[in-house]
Amino acid sequence: VVHHRPVTSPTRPIDEIALLDAGAGRRLERFGERVVDRPHPAAILSPAAPRLWRDADLRFDRDAGWTGRSDAQVPWTVAAAGLSLELRATDSGGVGLFPEQLANGDWVVDQVEARIRAQGTPAAVLNLFAHTGLLTLVAARAGATVTHVDAARTAVAWARRNAQLSGLAEAPVRWIVDDAVGFVRREARRRRRYDGILLDPPAYGHAGRRTWRLDADLGDLLFACSQLVAPGAFLLLTAHTAGFDDDRLIDEVRRAWPVTPGGLEVRALELEATSGATLPLGTAIRVTA
Ligand SMILES: C[S@@+](CC[C@H](N)C(=O)[O-])C[C@H]1O[C@@H](n2cnc3c(N)ncnc32)[C@H](O)[C@@H]1O
Repeated sequence: VVHHRPVTSPTRPIDEIALLDAGAGRRLERFGERVVDRPHPAAILSPAAPRLWRDADLRFDRDAGWTGRSDAQVPWTVAAAGLSLELRATDSGGVGLFPEQLANGDWVVDQVEARIRAQGTPAAVLNLFAHTGLLTLVAARAGATVTHVDAARTAVAWARRNAQLSGLAEAPVRWIVDDAVGFVRREARRRRRYDGILLDPPAYGHAGRRTWRLDADLGDLLFACSQLVAPGAFLLLTAHTAGFDDDRLIDEVRRAWPVTPGGLEVRALELEATSGATLPLGTAIRVTA
């Protein structure tokens, strides 16, 4: 179980990303200078610290959208994992950062550094469903050459802005707007090889006219990914979908990917609130040789 502990630093309060409380179907989080109150159906208990919720700067409701004392139209910047990331209140209730992914940052750095030590050349990493670029930038800063793929042009532009804000505008990243499945198949035909693949697929998504469904498409995508890797490559698969349990995820990985004994690690992704509440946020599967 990974407990994501908030980074607190009295001298650099902007560093602070923390789950403050969860309950009654909602989550309350500090993202730097703003406290955000959003729906989260899996938060089924009562809030542990009801008074904290009055501090929210922004609140999202499915019907009303964003309300609150901060201007939801104005982006802001947070420091996380040694990067500077722009956050924005999106129409779907997101902010451009999935804080549970911070728990995978050190592991990605370890994998990239191990490849560089072993082969003496930069590790080639493919990041699929790469969103606003957190793990792309973590890997690039550790010395990887990264291929960043997301179907949404807006997400790729946002990730590039995060690279600039983080001083990584010149890092060796290929920024690609494409469907993950189509891209991986074409890379296989081009005989490209990667040292590691990161995937954070949503339950459901769109790429042009193609629809992505985790349920139906994950197995084929994992198999296609397995055709792209050199022996000893690493894999990080995160999934956040209720009803897609760990056994099924493990099974999909084992069917598609060469897993050595002891080479597969399953981690619950959850955030522990400063109030003591915990929020389950899915599962990470890490595969190493
Ligand atoms: C990071 S994933 C979402 C995972 C997330 N942690 C969650 O809770 O569901 C979402 C990203 O996948 C992208 N996406 C959706 N369908 C895609 C597809 N077929 N190919 C590539 N990217 C896709 C979206 O544009 C978005 O940036």
